[in-house]
Amino acid sequence: MSQEDLKHTIDQIALKGKGILAADESTKTATRRLEGVGVASTEESRRQYRELLFSAPDAGKYLAGVILYEETLMQNASDGTPFPKFLEKHGILPGIKVDKGLIKIPFTEDEEVTQGLDGLPERLAEYKKLGAKFAKWRAVYKITDTLPSPLAISSNAEVLARYAAICQVAGIVPIVEPEVLLEGTHTIERCAVVSEAVLKEVFVALKRNLVDLRYIILKPSMVISGKDCPKKATPEQVAEHTLNILKKTVSDVVPTVNFLSGGQTPEQATLHLQLMNVHPMPWNLSFSYARALQDPTMNAWAGKKENVKTAQDIFSRRLKLNSLASQGKYDQGMEQVHS
Ligand code: 13P
Repeated sequence: MSQEDLKHTIDQIALKGKGILAADESTKTATRRLEGVGVASTEESRRQYRELLFSAPDAGKYLAGVILYEETLMQNASDGTPFPKFLEKHGILPGIKVDKGLIKIPFTEDEEVTQGLDGLPERLAEYKKLGAKFAKWRAVYKITDTLPSPLAISSNAEVLARYAAICQVAGIVPIVEPEVLLEGTHTIERCAVVSEAVLKEVFVALKRNLVDLRYIILKPSMVISGKDCPKKATPEQVAEHTLNILKKTVSDVVPTVNFLSGGQTPEQATLHLQLMNVHPMPWNLSFSYARALQDPTMNAWAGKKENVKTAQDIFSRRLKLNSLASQGKYDQGMEQVHS
């Protein structure tokens, strides 16, 4: 029964103190990141790197799920176990990125909509057989003084919602990811206005498409000043604005909100999560980070066997700190202590 599948999955994902690792970089993005640390990107190097992440000590203690790229879903760990089974053995649910990237929206200023609905039911059935329990679809919104346009907001909301409905029919929990980009000179106030408009429209579309909000994972960006904004918002402002927008737009029945890191430093992403978890909220507030978990790990590894243990320790440490932050138990002083 798909409703039972959905309930079983969401109950595990929404467990307090647990988060999600996004390890679903497309081959193009994985290649850019690997080459950035001097590693040639091959099917085997991507497999080895991802095994390093999944087999880190205590990964299962802090991770409820990992989002995989299709290539990884079909690969095996070194002992021959298929990755989805390998993760489940460690108590981690495998998920799968199902969108097929971005295409330009005609007649806009280079705005984009996410594609991938064609053949989605068939792909989901296949992914489910391979062990996937949840899925991810990412929509992106550029901020300027005039963007995102109403057309970009409504087009992306509609496809996100249609994707979510198709997932639920397949018994797969959808991650609904509307990402308002960090790139730009915008203030936190402008980001708040845009994030509210985006989330409002996403929830209108989810309702219109009859998506059961009890079985979704919302993966939003935090409300934050643009990367190149001269007036940087404080961590307290980020937490306050983000919670404000969530309270205005997100139904209380959504069980869990797992933020993306979006280009924040690992320490910022952890601190912001902590500051939000000081206040009791109707939803579990946790993480679904890629860069904020992986950047220091990948730098420490740099493709060398002798660095695997150090890299895994760094990764486990970030998982632990984010797990604490998701429970309101993190303190910046912990960044200095190595245990
Ligand atoms: P970042 O945490 O690096 O933003 O990645 C999360 C993600 O899954 C983007 O789609």
